[in-house]
Order: sequence, then structure tokens, then C-alpha cells
Amino acid sequence: MVKPTDKIEIPKFIKWAGGKTQLIEQFIPLFPKKIERYFEPFLGSGAVFFYIIEKYKPKEILLSDINKELINAYIIVKTDVERLIIELKQHKEYYKADSKKYYYEIRSVDPTLLPSLEQAARFIFLNKTCFNGLYRVNSKGKFNVPIGAYKNPDIIQEDKLRKVSKILQTVQIKVMSFEKIIKLAKKDDFIYFDPPYDPLKKGTSFTTYSKGNFLDPEQKQLCDVFQKLDKKGCKVMESNNDTEFIRGLYDKYDKVHVSAKRMINCNATKRGNINELVIRNYKV
Ligand SMILES: C[S@@+](CC[C@H](N)C(=O)[O-])C[C@H]1O[C@@H](n2cnc3c(N)ncnc32)[C@H](O)[C@@H]1O
Repeated sequence: MVKPTDKIEIPKFIKWAGGKTQLIEQFIPLFPKKIERYFEPFLGSGAVFFYIIEKYKPKEILLSDINKELINAYIIVKTDVERLIIELKQHKEYYKADSKKYYYEIRSVDPTLLPSLEQAARFIFLNKTCFNGLYRVNSKGKFNVPIGAYKNPDIIQEDKLRKVSKILQTVQIKVMSFEKIIKLAKKDDFIYFDPPYDPLKKGTSFTTYSKGNFLDPEQKQLCDVFQKLDKKGCKVMESNNDTEFIRGLYDKYDKVHVSAKRMINCNATKRGNINELVIRNYKV
């Protein structure tokens, strides 16, 4: 388990592009002092959520994302973890026997035809065994990431899944596009936005988390939602790239830099430290 601080563990159970585990320590001084209701509408692997629930113990939490398979996996971890572990054990056995053949066989299955338990097990299995834990779909919505080069991928993680299941018991989880948050959030609620980032160079975004893109119109729409929540008296924090476009959109809000180790090039071997923005409508 990753330990961003001495005290708090982040038991995230999937790998996700743009995951925030490595940034939590820099986020700690930026979070509000008190959090009673928490919303995370771009959930991904939920690194920030796992920190917030442990540290602040909010009374109400709503986690959401537009990716149906991702949210289904969370719901199954919450509601049916023991049967999920059994399914994952089966995947592990077959994968051990002939990894490549089995991976591509499972990848070719249409997840929408599977019952939700099997769909969640397939999603977690592919996440653990595919290249870099990427989630990428083609224009027809079909998962198309190749197999990763793992000798012994940790497909089951029984203890972690049980721990996450316990944590999720009091949490609401649903498939939802981010703009729906406007109707749900109230004064003093805390919302953390971690959208697909505005690319540093236009046209170079190489991660797609679901069918459909997140381009300039969506970034503008998100900024509009940010402003509406601000007017309602919510506390809002957003991560994004430090681009002229994003700075322009969030002109009047507080911005600080955090330093992230990231791929800075389509070539996965080129990694570097990048200053990304944290935008907030409040000061601590
Ligand atoms: C940068 S990732 C979030 C990473 C996450 N914070 C973590 O620690 O793993 C962005 C997420 O936004 C989701 N997403 C994309 N478009 C969306 C939309 N319109 N509404 C809600 N979620 C969306 C993607 O499915 C993806 O999980």
C-alpha cells in the first residue's frame, strides 16, 4: 500500500492514469479545515477520496465518474466483495496457465453482456494485467490496451479489497457526468475536481478514460460548474495542467503549483517533473 504520510494509507485497488497518490502530501495544506459533505465527480482510482474519508470522516460522500465499468467495479467491491475475490481467483488461475491467450480472450469479451459481478472481475483483471494499467477504448467503446509485461501481477489483493469494501459501506457511488453536481451540492460542501487535463500541447492528449473526449468545450463547461458551485457557497478545488487556457478560465481564483512526476511526452520512457495547478475558491 502506498503511504503518502506516516499515518494514512491509500488503499486504492486499481491503477488509473492521472492517479493522485503521489500528490496527496502536497494537497494536505490545501484541503479545507472541515469537510462534512464530500463530492468527487472524476473519481478514477479515488486516491483523494481515500485520504479524505480517513482523515476527515465526512458525514456524506458521493463518488462518481462517467466510466460505467469503473463505477460498477466500485459498487461490486462495496456490495459483493467475497464473490468478487472468488471470480478474481479464477482469472488468476487461467492467466497463470497461458497469460497471453487468456488476456486477449478476456479482453475480447463485450463487458456490457456480462452480469455486473463478472464485469467487475474482468475490469479489475484487465487493469492488473494490461500495459501500465491504462484504460483506453476505441471509437466503438471497445477496450484496446495490449497486455503488460508482468511476471506475477497482483490480480486479487484480497485484504485490500476487503478493506476498501468496508470503507465504501457508507459511501454513495454512481455513474454521473460532472455537471450534475450543481443540483446536488449545497453551501459548505467540498468538491474536488480532477478532470482529464487540458493538454500541454493541443492535440497531444493520449489518455482516454471512456468513449468521448474532454476538450475545450468541456473544460469551459467545467469552469462554469466551478463558478456556479462557488456562488452557492461550496468549497471547490480542482487539479489541471498549467496552461494559458486554464489560467484564463480560472482567472479570478486562487492558484498554486504542485510538482508531479509524469509522462511529459507520448513516449512513455520520457518522464519528468511537471508543475500542475491546484485551483481553489477558498483559502485555508
Ligand atoms: C484524471 S482522471 C481522475 C483520476 C483520479 N483523481 C485518481 O486519483 O485516479 C479523470 C476521470 O474523469 C472521468 N471523466 C471523464 N469525463 C467525465 C465526465 N464528463 N464526467 C465525469 N467524469 C468524467 C474519467 O473517466 C476519469 O476517471
